[in-house]
Amino acid sequence: MFVKAKLLRAPLAELGASGWRMLGSAGGAARSAADRAARSNLWLAERLRFYDAWRSNPQGIGAIAPSSRALGHAITRHLDPDCGRVIELGSGTGVFTRAMIKRGIPEQDLVLIEFDAAFATSLARDFPLAEVHRLDAGRLVERGVLADGIAGATVCGLPLLNMSLRQQIRIVRSAFALMHPSAAFYLFTYGVRCPVSRRVLDRLDLRARKVDIVIANAPPAHVWKLSRRGAAVRRIGAPRTDSGTH
Ligand SMILES: C[S@@+](CC[C@H](N)C(=O)[O-])C[C@H]1O[C@@H](n2cnc3c(N)ncnc32)[C@H](O)[C@@H]1O
Repeated sequence: MFVKAKLLRAPLAELGASGWRMLGSAGGAARSAADRAARSNLWLAERLRFYDAWRSNPQGIGAIAPSSRALGHAITRHLDPDCGRVIELGSGTGVFTRAMIKRGIPEQDLVLIEFDAAFATSLARDFPLAEVHRLDAGRLVERGVLADGIAGATVCGLPLLNMSLRQQIRIVRSAFALMHPSAAFYLFTYGVRCPVSRRVLDRLDLRARKVDIVIANAPPAHVWKLSRRGAAVRRIGAPRTDSGTH
């Protein structure tokens, strides 16, 4: 299916800049129609890839479609583009990765962790400057990820609710072990409650705040922020945007 998407895009790429110039003013309209067609081919290819991955591992994927761009925007909008390296857990087709780049985070600061082999291969192709690891997100520390530095944030697309408490603890603990003490971990869920249970938060000395609700996603999603208890996470005088706290 991936190969099919490549073939659909090929004639547009082959036309090249001089080809488009030769088309003159008519080229403008033709080009935007071609851009639209290329975008919808990409959209379709992305969904087919996601569906393939879901069929082979429904529990590990945890959703039947990639997240929407609106959710990508919401889960990354609190990131400071100068925060340094950002870990993304469960990047899948790269919806959140693209949102982070759009937010101004340099591609070379992204550390993408993805368990599925086909997704990891396409992430390495689509984001050649990022560091891509085909890895279980609970094994970051033992596999030496970010051994040379420390991250400024984590964005998580993992289906944590499908995982055991033990696995949740391994994943959240290893991400916090690699982050600056005041850094935050952003995640989403389709339910109302924080997907990381109270027991896990207490055990790791973390707090959770709901920071966004995204209706334009199927199904609608809630974005949560985890941070270390005692870390200064809100500027004095800044308005509270959270609608829930754990
Ligand atoms: C719900 S999909 C999210 C994909 C993308 N971030 C999005 O929002 O569309 C979950 C992703 O996490 C990956 N994943 C699941 N368990 C994982 C694990 N233990 N370590 C790393 N990646 C994992 C899956 O392969 C899948 O790509």
